[in-house]
Amino acid sequence: MSQMFPHLFTPLDLRHKTLKHRLNFGAHTANMAEDGLPGERHLGYYSERARGGAAMIVVEPVPAHRTGVLTRGNFRHEDDSIIPAFRRITDACHAYGTVMIQQIYHVGQHGDWDNSFEPAWSPSGLPSYHDMDGSHAMTEAEIEEVVEAFAQAARRAKEAGFDGCELFAAYHALIDQFWTPWSNRRDDRWGGSLDNRTRFSREIIERIRRYVGEDFIVGLAVSMEPDVDAALKLESLAEIVAWHDARGLIDYVTCGTGSYFDFYKIIPAFTYEDKLGAQFAEGLKAAVSHARVQAESHIRTPENANYVIASGQADMVSIVRGQIADPHMATKAMEDRPEDVRGCISCNQMCWGRRYRDYWISCLVNPSAGREFQWGGDRFAPAAAPRRVLVVGGGPAGLEAARVAAERGHGVTLAEAGPQLGGQFRLAGLQPRRGQILDLIAWYETQLRKLQVALRLNAPMDADEIRDFGADVVVLATGALPSEAGFQRALPDRDSLPGIARGQVHSVEDVMTRAARPGKRVILLDDGGHWRGAGTAWHLAEEGHEVILVTPQAMAGWELQRTSTELPLRRRLAALGVRTLTDSAIMEWHGDSATLRNLLDGTETRVDADSLVLATPPVAADWLQHDLADSGLEIRAIGDCVAPRRAYQAIYEGRKLGLAL
Ligand SMILES: Cc1cc2nc3c(=O)[nH]c(=O)nc-3n(C[C@H](O)[C@H](O)[C@H](O)COP(=O)(O)O)c2cc1C
Ligand code: SF4
Repeated sequence: MSQMFPHLFTPLDLRHKTLKHRLNFGAHTANMAEDGLPGERHLGYYSERARGGAAMIVVEPVPAHRTGVLTRGNFRHEDDSIIPAFRRITDACHAYGTVMIQQIYHVGQHGDWDNSFEPAWSPSGLPSYHDMDGSHAMTEAEIEEVVEAFAQAARRAKEAGFDGCELFAAYHALIDQFWTPWSNRRDDRWGGSLDNRTRFSREIIERIRRYVGEDFIVGLAVSMEPDVDAALKLESLAEIVAWHDARGLIDYVTCGTGSYFDFYKIIPAFTYEDKLGAQFAEGLKAAVSHARVQAESHIRTPENANYVIASGQADMVSIVRGQIADPHMATKAMEDRPEDVRGCISCNQMCWGRRYRDYWISCLVNPSAGREFQWGGDRFAPAAAPRRVLVVGGGPAGLEAARVAAERGHGVTLAEAGPQLGGQFRLAGLQPRRGQILDLIAWYETQLRKLQVALRLNAPMDADEIRDFGADVVVLATGALPSEAGFQRALPDRDSLPGIARGQVHSVEDVMTRAARPGKRVILLDDGGHWRGAGTAWHLAEEGHEVILVTPQAMAGWELQRTSTELPLRRRLAALGVRTLTDSAIMEWHGDSATLRNLLDGTETRVDADSLVLATPPVAADWLQHDLADSGLEIRAIGDCVAPRRAYQAIYEGRKLGLAL
């Protein structure tokens, strides 16, 4: 057993089951149902995490009722046909000794009509904070219908082989709406006193117990929203949890952060501190006598998890994104190999970023997530015939291709033109709070060293050198370069920005490497709406520059909405005094000022600045592909040198190629 994480890796009794340790994989909508049923994608995803050592897995929620359907990938509600399909998942995961729980949810007033085609039901008919719809105040008969629907869902979970269920009362979902006086304004037996507001959850749990018997875990998922007055305060939440605990209704409670009022803390990105939920779990732990308490939300690492248990803040810990990023986190930590754990970078780009657009989830650092059934999990089959592989370029695409090829037994050389690995991704890691990216690059360095990849730094290679190297296959991962033209999407008929030759114009890359030293007053033209521009604006403002961010979009960080990070970013920029000019383009740079056009009304203004920083579309560094086209060599190009995009496409293409060589 682990010497490094002794508190985390001790067993824990939970009703009729014993968890083999205290590191769990908590509930999250992976959105992977096919025709409402868990299929191969789902099976591969969960069984990889069970194989990787998670003690308890809470499988993504089944909507309790037709009015609770929330996503395109939700499972069929109120339908026994899910039972045999889920039995495959529970059987596969039980084989690894994993305790299996199913979450059951209903978000009440915060529904999604586009998926449910039903009006949202709620205690008192308050509006949704998910979209702009209003909701329907439930009648007594409708309350009874939903109580029964929850209990039937639990009955199905038991018949499908689950060891228990988790009732979703977090983030101001339906159960929480009954608990919270702000949303429960009823004057019948379902509202008012504590006993009345908890009647809904109590009736659900008592009926579940009647249907499933004693050998079935019942957990409660709650969350703490400290920033919104309408939400329950910690004392009230603790009182409610203690109320259920005192009556023996619950076996565990897990406490997340945030709510539909302030979505950003539900899946906290790197803008938030580590162990965000632990303090609230601690508050609940002080209130209960029987139930186990689980901490969650940005616990991130085995080190943090062990600390939470050792300090007595919680009995067990859920790490969701950390185990999306590395499905074998638990085993690696248990074996005292934390340096092998590929860390989640808290970016939300491919997990929540895909769920936000109603696709099945994946992961920026682990593109096998959701593809385990096609790509063989996060494990690598030896290559049929080892080959000599030359990877040119040490950014994310090249790093991943080199790593996976080496994992499969190929002899790999990685040549990087610069003095360090990471490419432009390293520059992203230098932006404020994004140091987890540097940790990831350090992880690659460790893995490449262990895999004996021959590393050449400061080693630019031209076509002749590549030909002379004598590789069986050459992987070109040479990335992209900043454009020096200043092209703007909003002005497609202009290939370049007039006046750019007047000087004091820099790329974000030159700013982040400190090759450029912009003056005090900076205009940053952000054509992309992603971290490349906005994170550089943040960096410059932190360094004391007066920054004006100019964007053709309706707000700074437009593209970050899907990652649930744009509001924390905009708050930060505002606090640092960054001015944002939206719906704007730059017509001309004068060397000491810029002429800006408002894209809504066409008016033009001149704004003084010492420097102009460009976050405009980069260009592919693809000349080696052209130079080597007739070389007769097996050439594979991946990442930005094919088309400038983001790190997740680069790592995806690196992994895909590494698996195919
Ligand atoms: C894509 C995604 C979907 C989620 N969906 C749910 C959900 O359906 N139910 C739930 O209780 N929590 C859900 N969560 C929240 C997680 O349980 C967890 O609280 C959150 O990811 C923060 O923990 P972490 O830092 O360990 O990832 C979701 C998280 C992610 C990333
Ligand atoms: S996409 Fe980003 S936040 Fe989500 S699990 Fe992967 S690394 Fe973590």
